Amino acid sequence: MKTIIQKAVSILKSGGLVAMPTETVYGLAADASNQAAVERIFAVKERPYQHPLIVHLAAIEQLSLWAREVPPVALKLAQAYWPGPLTLILKKQPHVLDIVTGAQDTVGIRIPHHPIAQDLLKAFGGGLAAPSANKFTHISPTTAQAVEQELGQGVDLILDGGECEVGLESTIVDMSGDQITVLRPGMLSLQAIAEVLGQSVFTKEEISSAVKAPGGHHLHYAPLTFTQLLPLEEIKAAIEKAEVSILPMACLVYSPSPSVDKAGINWVVMPQDPEHYAHELYKTLRHWDNQGLKRLLVEQVPESSEWDAIRDRLQKAAARELK
Ligand code: TXA
Ligand code: MG
Repeated sequence: MKTIIQKAVSILKSGGLVAMPTETVYGLAADASNQAAVERIFAVKERPYQHPLIVHLAAIEQLSLWAREVPPVALKLAQAYWPGPLTLILKKQPHVLDIVTGAQDTVGIRIPHHPIAQDLLKAFGGGLAAPSANKFTHISPTTAQAVEQELGQGVDLILDGGECEVGLESTIVDMSGDQITVLRPGMLSLQAIAEVLGQSVFTKEEISSAVKAPGGHHLHYAPLTFTQLLPLEEIKAAIEKAEVSILPMACLVYSPSPSVDKAGINWVVMPQDPEHYAHELYKTLRHWDNQGLKRLLVEQVPESSEWDAIRDRLQKAAARELK
């Protein structure tokens, strides 16, 4: 009997799409060397072509097949954190398709550690282009059910690997230029990266260059429900007023505070440590986004660096204008 992995490989080899679990979020995978298959990813996600895709590999030995230059610092970082929630931007090999790179001279590469992603990549042998398995601008899926809700018939097979451990997308580090830059914060922190490398690492904001900003589209990872990011005091004030026009709503708070027992208000207590918060965030946003509420009020998270990736996603989630 064919195993599910063999079935997934034959779908990929014939140009199909497979949703694969990774430790960050679920990816929508296609053979990165097959133009038509990669085009299908963009069609199914309704994603504009300017947003390049990450190529997923099974092992570091394959890196030079996709990147023409692997500086020693990049290798050091790869050895420290791969397989894991890290994506490296490197100078690409000539064969890497323009549709994958957004016609840039660089390619994003990641080696995930989820066992199903590893099994699939090893059995497939090549590179898998895989963006998060959601419609463009929606919340990334962290369960197989969320993939089904997002893409339904658009995907040929969904591999169910349970809930994603990390829950937020990988940290993207650009190592293709003179300065090492974090283009998208993730739960693997800038400090952890700088520590391993023993040199300065910059944020995208610190570098005033024309680097294409991943997730730079201001509305990204966003619920469809109008979402606001506010200090706890302002959430409480909004509840005091509780105008009918904003009810029912859900309030996602993490500070210890007495829960509110008022009609039309769902009080949701989030974990207080960033790892657990990240793990819960997309699942919780998706759940409350499915309830037909008028509003989601989310408490602002601390300014400290271990919350950077979470703050980044919450700011983007709250970027939708009130219709
Ligand atoms: O955790 C993750 O990274 C997940 C899982 C499935 O691996 N993938 C993911 O893919 O988040 P996606 O497509 O949703 O986001 C990838 C981001 C995009 O915003 C894109 O702009 C950026 O990576 N990116 C890809 N290639 C790039 C390149 N050559 N230069 C700059 N940014 C790049
Ligand atoms: Mg995405």
